[in-house]
Amino acid sequence: MIKKANTDYPIHELIENRWSPYKFLPDRLVPKEDLFSLLEAARWAPSSYNEQPWRFIIAPREQTEEFEKLLSCLVKANQEWAKNASVLMLGITHLTFDRNGKENKAAMHDLGASVSHLSFEATTRGISVHQMIGIDPQKAREGYAIPENFEALIAIAIGYPDSNETANDTLAIRDRTPRVRKTISEVVFFKEWGSAFI
Ligand SMILES: Cc1cc2nc3c(=O)[nH]c(=O)nc-3n(C[C@H](O)[C@H](O)[C@H](O)COP(=O)(O)O)c2cc1C
Repeated sequence: MIKKANTDYPIHELIENRWSPYKFLPDRLVPKEDLFSLLEAARWAPSSYNEQPWRFIIAPREQTEEFEKLLSCLVKANQEWAKNASVLMLGITHLTFDRNGKENKAAMHDLGASVSHLSFEATTRGISVHQMIGIDPQKAREGYAIPENFEALIAIAIGYPDSNETANDTLAIRDRTPRVRKTISEVVFFKEWGSAFI
């Protein structure tokens, strides 16, 4: 199943087709070579001062113990569905610059850009990505010995979406709900705050 964006203006199908499923096929694992390409795409994201503040901890499903450990860093509501992902990742960012130890104000922004790259690479391969802010950062810090000036911000579930269109459980219904967005006029302003550009 692909939940296409209902766009007002034409966009690349990659952006149109990316969506965040709740139902993953637990038995369909993402092949290693695809996974490596997703990580490569994440690596090539732009970043402020080319600092590349993103770090990831990865747990493929077949590494059962590691998968369970990473799953336990998610809030319960996210564990419910993310347990079926093929791969789980934690997205961590470096809050200070390597070169001078000063605050990197773009640290979170750049982690987001990196995950976007990973997501679009996944879309080209029919693989889905669902990001989660609902994690327990302290548990992640303790479990993985994450240093003080790094912050675990998000988790990422990666896998193949379950396209069973007859399922009627809450998650399946959520997956069939159309994707919605604010209009461009609500978010892009011209001349003054709140004044629509288009
Ligand atoms: C940074 C970030 C954090 C998110 N956190 C959660 C989360 O904790 N749990 C969840 O179910 N979905 C989470 N989502 C998924 C969003 O709800 C989803 O991207 C949004 O509803 C738009 O849907 P779409 O990605 O299918 O277009 C998160 C997405 C992002 C980008």
